[in-house]
Amino acid sequence: MSLLDIGCGTGAITAGIATAVASGEVAGPVIGLDRDTDNLAVARQRHADIPNLRFESGDVLSLGYRAQFDVVNAARTLQWIADPALAIEKMKAAAKPGGCVIALDYNHENNRWEPDAPPEFAQFYRAFLDWRTANGWDNRMADHLPGLFRAAGLGAIQVHVSDEIVRRGDPDFADSAGIWTRVANTIGPAIAAAGFTTEREYLNAEAAYRDWVESGLERLALFMRTVEGVVPP
Ligand SMILES: C[S@@+](CC[C@H](N)C(=O)[O-])C[C@H]1O[C@@H](n2cnc3c(N)ncnc32)[C@H](O)[C@@H]1O
Repeated sequence: MSLLDIGCGTGAITAGIATAVASGEVAGPVIGLDRDTDNLAVARQRHADIPNLRFESGDVLSLGYRAQFDVVNAARTLQWIADPALAIEKMKAAAKPGGCVIALDYNHENNRWEPDAPPEFAQFYRAFLDWRTANGWDNRMADHLPGLFRAAGLGAIQVHVSDEIVRRGDPDFADSAGIWTRVANTIGPAIAAAGFTTEREYLNAEAAYRDWVESGLERLALFMRTVEGVVPP
């Protein structure tokens, strides 16, 4: 089985897929594609030992593959693309007739923290959503995937609930819930540069959120859906 993973990032998911594919009855090549060369450098270094895996630099919007892969996958990637319909069209073109296109993504408007987040973080999260909207990125990507798949001519569409829920006491609680400290830290500067927050606000949000993960936050639910569709023969 051959697979193309769009927006592979640093390749953790792609490497897991490649290892699973290699142990299957019909092993095949797995390619991780990303437009971020820094991510790709990390991916290549971390996963150099997996023989059926390679990484390529490229933008899904100018993907040149035609009818080549059994599966074309995009995890948490379409949410960063202002023209997801074109991306899905390119993914469909890269898959073989009878092959499968799969996308996993968020509905950021439905993400929930219990109890309510501290005001510093709530304000930052609103700025994050507004900044995304201003860039043309869909905050309800997960909900719009089935319609986009249908419009692209994919058939046999299935939707799977893939929510990520962590509760205090779970072994990975601090790391999983802490994703938003990392978001404030890494994306905060871009959101500030675009005028949706300030350095002071995102640093305050990061600090307040970190404290809250230590003592306060009980449950975080990130709303996610996996959608799959089949390329007509
Ligand atoms: C949130 S990361 C997801 C990484 C990985 N798939 C995962 O689920 O952990 C999104 C990735 O999509 C990549 N990306 C965004 N737009 C892209 C595009 N138009 N073409 C290729 N990669 C893109 C980014 O560089 C980033 O590495």
